Amino acid sequence: MTTPRPNPLRDPEDRRLPRIAGPCGMVLFGVTGDLSRKKVMPAIYDLANRGLLPPGFSLTGFARRDWANEDFAKIVHDSVKEHARTEFREETWKQLAEGFRFVPGEFDDDVAFDRLRRTIEELDEVRGTDGNHAFYLAIPPGFFGTGAGQLKEHGLAHVDGDAWRRVVIEKPFGHDLASARELNHSLMSVFAPNEIFRIDHYLGKETVQNILAMRFANEMFEPLWNNNYVDHVQITMAEDGGIEGRAGYYDGIGAARDVIQNHLLQLLALVAMEEPRAFDADSLRHEKQKLLASVTLPHRLDLTTARGQYAAGWSGGRKVRGFLEEDGVRKTSTTESFAAVTLHVDNRRWAGVPFYLRTGKRLGRRVTEVAVVFKKSPHQPFADSAVEELTQNAFVIRVQPDEGVTLRFGSKVPGAGMEIRDVNMDFVYGGSFTESSPEAYERLILDVLLGDPPLFPRHEEVELSWEILDPILDFWERKGGKPEPYPAGGWGPEGAVKMLARDGRTWRRP
Ligand code: BG6
Repeated sequence: MTTPRPNPLRDPEDRRLPRIAGPCGMVLFGVTGDLSRKKVMPAIYDLANRGLLPPGFSLTGFARRDWANEDFAKIVHDSVKEHARTEFREETWKQLAEGFRFVPGEFDDDVAFDRLRRTIEELDEVRGTDGNHAFYLAIPPGFFGTGAGQLKEHGLAHVDGDAWRRVVIEKPFGHDLASARELNHSLMSVFAPNEIFRIDHYLGKETVQNILAMRFANEMFEPLWNNNYVDHVQITMAEDGGIEGRAGYYDGIGAARDVIQNHLLQLLALVAMEEPRAFDADSLRHEKQKLLASVTLPHRLDLTTARGQYAAGWSGGRKVRGFLEEDGVRKTSTTESFAAVTLHVDNRRWAGVPFYLRTGKRLGRRVTEVAVVFKKSPHQPFADSAVEELTQNAFVIRVQPDEGVTLRFGSKVPGAGMEIRDVNMDFVYGGSFTESSPEAYERLILDVLLGDPPLFPRHEEVELSWEILDPILDFWERKGGKPEPYPAGGWGPEGAVKMLARDGRTWRRP
């Protein structure tokens, strides 16, 4: 008989106590970038405000700027004031700011990295960080390899005894399978797999984790979760915003690489995977990986994918420019701002069930949802006219912005006759829980500091996702031409509508 491994979720002690990080610090590379200012710094403050960081927590900034510690503190202060989720408390700020340090330097500057090592040693002494440090590389991915190499060269990547060193990176993890492998290789030549934390911020969202809770903590959904009952699944990540000054990053990358390769395929994995043995990193990642390895593409990529580029139109009541008129975008750019793909999962549970994924910028509204659409009931005792307005049942996980779950089913319209119409039953987070959801980055940064890896994709998942996407990207490239234009404020190009119409289906209008 095998002895079951302890499962922290089953430990009642753990459920009652908040998880607080032990003594540690973080070094943030790329402090002037959007990611640091809008997400990382505010999340660190919010964690401190919630009492989840150790009292001696230290944040060291590293950048090519001639700054003193105070200048760095001012940058963090402004970012917190503007973007933090929780209220500003002088007391929290004061304690946190005592642990701020700044090291000026470039990636190829050996003197700067030596200075960084001495700064960390000083923090260990004066702040009690005990040699535990996470290196957050909030920098363009082209520098990941050099950054990691420098950490190794200067004795920062490893430490003796019980102390830990971890590295945090954020997508894009390469731009195709080959470059993703290369990147993984260069990171893994410095850090062990369990020391590398790859952030996919969708996995830090409460509603995304709720997919697992809905599926595996309940008895009523899972029996229906297969090709006997499910007709198809639609995963939508729509944004009303454009590229928001990010032309330098986005032009040449496009919607498929930007979000399908990571966020949407992770959503697909969570929706379709088998039940993990426990909610631990190995079991969860193993199931996601198995699922991603079972994903196949239809033969006719010309009929089962669509790509678009937004033209001028209206968004939120104002006139907006088209993609090609955005500042910094090449006038001849063929980068797609909308992508839709059809995927299949080759296993017994999902054979024959298409998974439709779509994402786009400048669409009608900002909404991310996963809709599991059920087959029509095999027999209708009601007259055709009675069920005319009845569509298919659907189970919709609303990832954002109205976080919750909707169940759509038919119900009798009050009156003497038997008329049946669709109704929705809604679970709304705000209505059931008084506590507001933490930001994804709060959860993920805390998990990095705790060394808790279930919510971080491992390199096999990243590579499998590229294996799925590469043939589609190659197909689009071979086909050449421009993506189909769609007006800003609409729901994407005609091609996407036709893609579903060929299968006798329609996209949901969220
Ligand atoms: C990022 C993409 O990963 O996710 C952006 O690079 C996108 O293009 C963003 O806008 C959306 O995140 P969220 O959490 O607002 O849905």
